[in-house]
Amino acid sequence: MKMNGSQIMIGDIPAAELASRFGTPLYVYDEQKIRENYRRAVGAFKKHCPDFRMFYAVKCSNNPAIVNILRQEGAGADCASVNEILLAKSVGLDGENVMFSGNFLSDEDIRQGLESGVVFNLDDESILPRLLKFGTPEVLSFRINPGYGRSNVGDFVTNAGPNAKFGIHPDHVLEAYRQAQAAGIKRFGAHMMTGSCITDADYFPFVTGLLMDIIGKVSKELGIDFEFVDLGGGLGIPYEPGEPGLDLEAAAAKTAAMFASKCAEYGMKQPRLEMEPARYFVGNAGYVLGRVHSIKHSYKTIVGTDIGMNVLVRPAFYGSYHHIFVDGKENHDRVLLGMCGQLCENTDYWVKDRLLPADMAEGDLVVVENAGAYGFGMSYQYNGRLRAAEVLVNGSEAILIRERERFEDMIAHTIVPDYLKK
Ligand SMILES: Cc1ncc(COP(=O)(O)O)c(C=O)c1O
Repeated sequence: MKMNGSQIMIGDIPAAELASRFGTPLYVYDEQKIRENYRRAVGAFKKHCPDFRMFYAVKCSNNPAIVNILRQEGAGADCASVNEILLAKSVGLDGENVMFSGNFLSDEDIRQGLESGVVFNLDDESILPRLLKFGTPEVLSFRINPGYGRSNVGDFVTNAGPNAKFGIHPDHVLEAYRQAQAAGIKRFGAHMMTGSCITDADYFPFVTGLLMDIIGKVSKELGIDFEFVDLGGGLGIPYEPGEPGLDLEAAAAKTAAMFASKCAEYGMKQPRLEMEPARYFVGNAGYVLGRVHSIKHSYKTIVGTDIGMNVLVRPAFYGSYHHIFVDGKENHDRVLLGMCGQLCENTDYWVKDRLLPADMAEGDLVVVENAGAYGFGMSYQYNGRLRAAEVLVNGSEAILIRERERFEDMIAHTIVPDYLKK
């Protein structure tokens, strides 16, 4: 995003033009920014580990156009469900380019996952015997909970440590690999995903050390040469103005150094280092555009837009901050205002006491920043408010990549029994 005078531009297109052409609420993604983010991240790690491999966690923003951009850049896909595997396959990612990192899987998930031929990353050792009933995978990874996790979004997206539901307890890891070996599996990886949105560069080498201490012992004890170690995602972005970002170069250098030193300590042949971030690629490349529809002067002044928690749930869900720009009014005097969406839920009143242009008025266009990650993918239809459209901006070109939902989409798949129609 950039300013052209008081006009907000996404890529080379005025936000106002996008809003009038495609309507609001509207998700807009800047393709060049996604590519730049990806190249910066891969480049930082490849400098130290030439065979470094990047995956994209599809859940973050699952529009096939976006997954295709990342595939073109060289990313594999990390998938949380069979449908995400199907999505990855639909854009041409397959086999060992896809990791299946679902948790608490059903038998049907396991059967279809195995049939799909992607790499299983098991979240618990109890899934192994259930998996073996359906067949023996060529390669297997376990998701390990190394006992510590953190995030910049409170505890909401802390994905490891004693309060997390994810991963295998360190005390169970040796036995899990032993059983997999006994079942005839020969190729192994190891994985963790300990937290999301981390901007502390020292965090990544620290958790890498924890993981390597666990699998180093497994390697020694069972003679396993791990093929890959996947450190998960978590590369953070700043959301608030002035918030420091991640020093990616330092994170990569220190993580690679820790990885190499732990491999040496445990006498391991160095596995391929992998990561599967998502927010870092698409977070700051995505925006939500919304229109001010009415302004209420009650106990406080509340600006009502069509961006509710149905469109962008993160503020209501996690208490997350998202910066708001007002087209044409960025340099105007500011007063403390509230902002809300149109849902019958008070958590939809997602901005309280924010300094916003004092002359905000009906019809104004607002642009919410850093909405590309966990934005559209978490949106829903409550109150009959339908999901937004998605648009990809590539320089001066804007392409619709998901149509706005219609009433027919809201009632699709519902069934009214005949006797209720009388
Ligand atoms: C297993 C797994 N890997 C990777 C990610 C991506 O995380 P991030 O967007 O923080 O990079 C997630 C996100 O929740 C995840 O669950």
